[in-house]
Amino acid sequence: MADSHQTHTPYAARARAAELRELLEYHGRLYHLLDAPVIADAEYDGLFRELLALEEACPELKDPASPTLRIGGAVLDSLSTRAHSLPMYSLDNVFSMAEGREFVRKMLRLLPGADERDIAFWMEPKLDGLAMELIYEKGLLVCALTRGDGETGEEVTENMRTVRTVPLRLASPPSPPSPPSLLEVRGEVLMNKKDFAALNLRQQKTGGRTFANPRNAAAGSVRQLDSAEAARRPLRFIAYGIGKTEWVKGSPWSTQQEIMRGLRDFGFAAAPGAALCSSLEAVEQWYDALVRERESFPFESDGAVAKVNSLALQEKLGFTARAPRFAVAFKFEAAQARTRLEDILIQVGRTGVLTPVAQLAPVNVGGVVVRRATLHNEDEIRAGDLRIGDTVLVRRAGDVIPEIVAALTELRSGEEQVFVFPERCPSCGGQVVREAGEAARRCVNRACPAVRREAVRHFVSKAGLDVQGLGDKLVERLLDAGRLNDPAALFRLQEKDLLDLERMGKKAAAKVLKALDEARKKTTLPRLLAALGIRHVGEQTAKALAREFGSMEALTAAEADDLRRVRDVGPEAAASIRDFFASPGNRELLRALKEAGLCPAEETSPSGTDPSPSSGGEAHPDKETGNAGAQPARPSPLAGKTVLFTGTLPSLGRREASRLAEEAGATLAGSVSARLDYLVAGDNPGSKLAKAEAAGVAILAEADFLRLTGRSENSQAGSTWKRNVAAGRPAPS
Ligand code: IVH
Repeated sequence: MADSHQTHTPYAARARAAELRELLEYHGRLYHLLDAPVIADAEYDGLFRELLALEEACPELKDPASPTLRIGGAVLDSLSTRAHSLPMYSLDNVFSMAEGREFVRKMLRLLPGADERDIAFWMEPKLDGLAMELIYEKGLLVCALTRGDGETGEEVTENMRTVRTVPLRLASPPSPPSPPSLLEVRGEVLMNKKDFAALNLRQQKTGGRTFANPRNAAAGSVRQLDSAEAARRPLRFIAYGIGKTEWVKGSPWSTQQEIMRGLRDFGFAAAPGAALCSSLEAVEQWYDALVRERESFPFESDGAVAKVNSLALQEKLGFTARAPRFAVAFKFEAAQARTRLEDILIQVGRTGVLTPVAQLAPVNVGGVVVRRATLHNEDEIRAGDLRIGDTVLVRRAGDVIPEIVAALTELRSGEEQVFVFPERCPSCGGQVVREAGEAARRCVNRACPAVRREAVRHFVSKAGLDVQGLGDKLVERLLDAGRLNDPAALFRLQEKDLLDLERMGKKAAAKVLKALDEARKKTTLPRLLAALGIRHVGEQTAKALAREFGSMEALTAAEADDLRRVRDVGPEAAASIRDFFASPGNRELLRALKEAGLCPAEETSPSGTDPSPSSGGEAHPDKETGNAGAQPARPSPLAGKTVLFTGTLPSLGRREASRLAEEAGATLAGSVSARLDYLVAGDNPGSKLAKAEAAGVAILAEADFLRLTGRSENSQAGSTWKRNVAAGRPAPS
């Protein structure tokens, strides 16, 4: 085989290599993109082997776009990250044509003078995979980036090179615009349903891990460290748009349709069935056809995407913080299925809350195998009269966590068992309490292993010390290996502890230690306080406490009264902070953290020694008088209430809103139920709004919500509660 090159002069060898590459890419496209091969597989393999031999014999012939790279080989230690040149946004969802029309109406309001009839939509199936950006410089694939958080993605170039539907070099279009010097192609990586089934079968046979659905299989495969393994996974790339581009003579594209035609010409696969619809009626018809046909698609689709066709209009409409205003996803209706409620298990969370989780006989709900569903709390089980052994209806909407809709009581045999909520913690056997006004039962043992586990997870998370590069998986592995009995143990980790873990190389271990060291250095007192996971102490309260007390020692010594004088600290928070610092276990933890080098102090001087009005203490006149305003001593109107957010809020991000709610003592609900107290609705609220209205739940705008948290100027005063009144509920007081 390897002697083929000997018959070539160096010049002829180069020419033959180029010819082979062109032939292989051409036949590869016929095979993978068009499903219409014109040569036999054996013939293709022969050409491939010839090229491989040539390249092995003459390394100077190697080429970054050679099809021989598609078999992979590079093994990475970890994935590195890189910023997207333009952010990769998400999409707003609508769940009905009515909501879709509303989206378009809103769009029109931003386009003065425009008429519905002026806007054409490019319609495509929404592909259920993971978003990817492929970067081509001078026609060559140089980088593949996952979406990541939208700003920064993970580099998976070696793996994406192995994907047969990814051009390594842009094909020459029939009527060439001169190729762009930079082209960022965006699309979805996915696995066809058939390929997924075959992969799972193979994994089962070889003892590899199997995947729940094609999307998970695609995501897992893309993030493989071993590119030869990635090459064995049947991945596909389907393009749906572009990121940044640079053209020598200006972009030849002025519509979405032209972009898609251009990408096809460059050798990319596009979603089947895409079409231009020039009226909302046409959009609706197209969507109805998609609903009828989607089962017959080779891949899974979870809806449709409508994009304004004109790029000029797209630009005018622009983006919100998270999504374009010129595109929207029409999600398919939630899928439902029947299954058996086999058992109810109890999960113990970071604050000791016991959450019941339904264990279900595995059932396919709209393409995903569902085995579990959260039940929120014991009242919900009682209200729904759920019994172990019941046949239940399970639903799942898009990426939403599956939920039990109802028990089908008419199917009962009489063998079903009423669930008795445990009186003891299932993890440690310790005492469980249910405080007045709370739906949840809680394990109060600070040393409970389950509580500890969640505590460590919270400690390193974004809401805590934000240790970069210490993902959930690694924390899990360290916990399992018994290396993390408390958060302080994290900072005592040594290289050898890490190397003991499977699949952990020296380089990766060094990275983890460096990340921890960086976290240690950047840790401030408020951050550390938030990381401790004290109930009712979120970011904001942690900041206020740090400002007032200045050090962990001062806080440890503080009495409940001292604490309650702090703005942002209500009686419940004060009690919980007091309890936290009174616990010998927690004092031990703080000592250990200090020993590990985590004893940040706040720069500003502590309360009492600084007479400036902003430093609190006695200096706040209205604290004594209890005037209206964000008062610390008054229980928040949100305390003990359950709150749920939906849609895009005008000023608050979801995390921030959740934090405010929690700090005000509210519990965040997972879904709309009749027991929900408030639904805070923003733009594009989706189906939750209708559900909440139907259930008579009080609906708040962001401003109402802020007033209840005490964050807005006229806290609680003069608020209008139109929707509450309409819904027949009293205004909160
Ligand atoms: S266009 C600004 N078209 O859906 C985002 N996205 O829910 C424009 N997706 O992250 C995206 N199929 O990964 C577009 N035909 C399609 C799509 C599609 C699937 C994904 C995409 C995006 C996610 C948002």
